Amino acid sequence: MTQDELKQAVAQAALAYVPEGEIIGVGTGSTANFFIDGLAGMRDRIKGAVASSEASAKRLAAQGIRLFDLNEVEHLSVYVDGADEIDGGFCMIKGGGVALTREKIVASVAGRFVCIADASKKVAVLGRFPLPVEVIPLARNAVARQLVALGGRPVWREGVVTDNGNHILDVHDLAITGPVALEARINAIVGVVTNGLFAARGADVLLLGTADGVVSSTR
Ligand code: A5P
Repeated sequence: MTQDELKQAVAQAALAYVPEGEIIGVGTGSTANFFIDGLAGMRDRIKGAVASSEASAKRLAAQGIRLFDLNEVEHLSVYVDGADEIDGGFCMIKGGGVALTREKIVASVAGRFVCIADASKKVAVLGRFPLPVEVIPLARNAVARQLVALGGRPVWREGVVTDNGNHILDVHDLAITGPVALEARINAIVGVVTNGLFAARGADVLLLGTADGVVSSTR
């Protein structure tokens, strides 16, 4: 099976976690896009969606799914999104698709985070995928120096501006054995908006696309 077929399979499997009559949280990226396309088939059975990026909002709207602003919503039962890496403790690196801040915000009000990923995303230790950090543009170099002091090698994703008008530093060479502590440590650097570690609030359910089918596990 190709990677896209694996992504499609997990996106399809995630539809079973969508509660009828409710608003759901929807992530960003190629796997989330397959999920949005599948969700279109049940658009009349859900109330709508909160999107984690302008790109996902556009795709949801094109599929005829009603969009809600997060400020209109107090709680979401479910948030469905992909990941760049996920470890055995359901901690993730996200943000390869730039949407980490809104993803983290929408996920924070969800009762259940359903992570949909192909098998290549499952790792023993997070950090082979460079950790995205969203920074206020003015603080980019100041934050980068602090990330070097933490042992990382930040690289500015030049030309990329987030939906929030900020910049992204991709931090290479981190072997993340303590993701909860590192998430908090990086978020405490002045000028950081969010980092792509989803550890304090990791996934609750993992739907992993493998050659043998979709393997589901729960934290
Ligand atoms: C978007 O900012 C990311 O967090 C994505 O969820 C992550 O990069 C996974 O993307 P793919 O589904 O495209 O691999």
